[in-house]
Amino acid sequence: MLFDFTALPRDVRSKLMHSTVVPRPIAWIVTRHASGQTNAAPFSFFNVVATEPPLLCVGISARAGEDKDTLANIRRSGQFVVNLVSNAQAAAMNATAPDYGPEVDELAKAGLVAAPSTKVDPPRIADSPVAMECELFQLVDLEPGGAVVLGRILAMHIAEEMMLDVNRYYVDTPKLELIGRMHGGGVYVRTTDLFDMPRPQAR
Ligand SMILES: Cc1cc2nc3c(=O)[nH]c(=O)nc-3n(C[C@H](O)[C@H](O)[C@H](O)COP(=O)(O)O)c2cc1C
Repeated sequence: MLFDFTALPRDVRSKLMHSTVVPRPIAWIVTRHASGQTNAAPFSFFNVVATEPPLLCVGISARAGEDKDTLANIRRSGQFVVNLVSNAQAAAMNATAPDYGPEVDELAKAGLVAAPSTKVDPPRIADSPVAMECELFQLVDLEPGGAVVLGRILAMHIAEEMMLDVNRYYVDTPKLELIGRMHGGGVYVRTTDLFDMPRPQAR
């Protein structure tokens, strides 16, 4: 079947995109409100997109025509931390997803411990296996309250026990036990079904 995205309504486009482009990694973003309050929320319209400069992107949709707290905080401060989500953190990540007001600290709500960042003001989630300190590189405004955020990665924390060989920058990727988002409202995937396939050479 062919689905004409230039003619389909938004909710249908969204349904088709969410249920086909899978699995999506999850950016568990920590930002800080002007009041000093920390804010955390998950976003699966996310990936790394460039290495020079090192960039990641996050798609944040509008909430009733306005910025979600994460987007408002990034606009104001230009800083955020992207934490990756391990299998053990799935429930805590989900607990930070409801549309709480800006006065709610989702980290406290989910019983999460914050650890200080080194280059940006918002903290990272202490037990996330990987956390990336980011500064805003470019913000592409879409509809009111909706935007694509391009973030420049300034520093990456990787839990020491996840390193196979620090001197060669080898990470024990399966040990990260990251989860991804699948289809529907609440289907996720574990990164445990691996297979090897060496890349063929042109000559
Ligand atoms: C796994 C998961 C992935 C999500 N991905 C996105 C996303 O890519 N974009 C988005 O706008 N909202 C996404 N959401 C919804 C936001 O997390 C939710 O709107 C949250 O309340 C925003 O919080 P904030 O207002 O503190 O920024 C996702 C929710 C979950 C549970």
